[in-house]
Amino acid sequence: MSPIPVQTRDTLLEWRSEFPTVEATLHFISHSLGAMPRGVEEALRRYAQVWKARGIRAWEEGWMALPSELGDLLAGIIGAEPGSVTMFENVTLAQAVALSAIDFTPPRRRLVCTEEDFPSVLYLYEGLVRRGAEVVRVGARDGHRIEEADVVAAIDERTAVVAISHVLFRTSRVLDLGPIVARAHAVGSRVLIDAYQAVGTLPVDVRALGIDFLTGGSVKWLCGGPGAGYLYVDPRLAPGLEPAITGWFAHERPFDFDPGPMRRHQGARRFWTGTPGIPSFVAARPGYEIVARIGVAAIREKSLRQTERMIHLADEYGLPVASPREAERRGGTVVLDVPRAEAVCAALLASDVLLDHRPGVGLRLAPHFYTRDDEVDLVMRRVRDEVRKAGA
Ligand SMILES: Cc1ncc(COP(=O)(O)O)c(C=O)c1O
Repeated sequence: MSPIPVQTRDTLLEWRSEFPTVEATLHFISHSLGAMPRGVEEALRRYAQVWKARGIRAWEEGWMALPSELGDLLAGIIGAEPGSVTMFENVTLAQAVALSAIDFTPPRRRLVCTEEDFPSVLYLYEGLVRRGAEVVRVGARDGHRIEEADVVAAIDERTAVVAISHVLFRTSRVLDLGPIVARAHAVGSRVLIDAYQAVGTLPVDVRALGIDFLTGGSVKWLCGGPGAGYLYVDPRLAPGLEPAITGWFAHERPFDFDPGPMRRHQGARRFWTGTPGIPSFVAARPGYEIVARIGVAAIREKSLRQTERMIHLADEYGLPVASPREAERRGGTVVLDVPRAEAVCAALLASDVLLDHRPGVGLRLAPHFYTRDDEVDLVMRRVRDEVRKAGA
């Protein structure tokens, strides 16, 4: 097999110096925990200083505005209108808020999802059964492959919401949302997309896709660290929604301490709950800013090039590839279904290789915009050698 030449001019590597971790490790884990931007350290130090020096005045001097500013940064990344993205602590809570605005009363009480969606949201959907929902889980073919046609076939007039992933977390398979959204809307259902494994590595345009709700988080491709998830709501829909999971920050005038009935904010705060988690939002901002400045189209182009290189090397080394090979089906992660994946993963982690594994599919490895081609080659050799050592 002929070797793939390394790209001599990779302009995205200009951002590499912003991520100290990638110099100390072989960082192939951005589908799970993106590298920390250098700016986070200073931002958190400034946060503590403001708290110390300004006390309660910090709310008016920046904290109160921060969640909306972050939401607008994310809106730019996903093609949404300013004011349409709300910050939360994580994706699970963001989805819970969105779903609490949906009625599950007969004859329209179905939630359609797939068995390859992330377990945390599947647990949430399970809980909705006690609120009258009927959960329809579309099964995978060949173990882990979800087909759009199977999702479309599960949607009908009984469907209240279709809640599915854009990129499947186990196999990094990209689902084509077009036919699913079209079918859902044709029968009067809403669509809630879990785009955690997409945003930051795959261009997502909520307006072009016509999505009603979309959730994502910070930990992975956006390099924002833990404690920040988000919810996009189509602004045409938002004013009519009354989420049952809410709080005083969603009130039109929170500092009136009005005992109710609740008067919801007409704009961006409508979906807020209680006091926002300011320090995690402070930490999230540098990563969002970098991704917004680079642009996801450029990140995707590089990701496709490097994941192709990894697949090529996997074939050369006889490592079975469990993620899709076709470019349009491929998310940012390459999955290698090697024997004894757990032990191989542990051995690599114990050295300086950051990766993970998932039961049933194998090792997950992801390059990102800060990855060099020679690191791709090196990590694949390290995996090959470790698999051999494990006696597999
Ligand atoms: C696709 C997907 N959805 C949801 C989650 C979990 O989100 P959170 O922990 O923010 O609720 C993950 C990963 O952790 C994920 O990969």
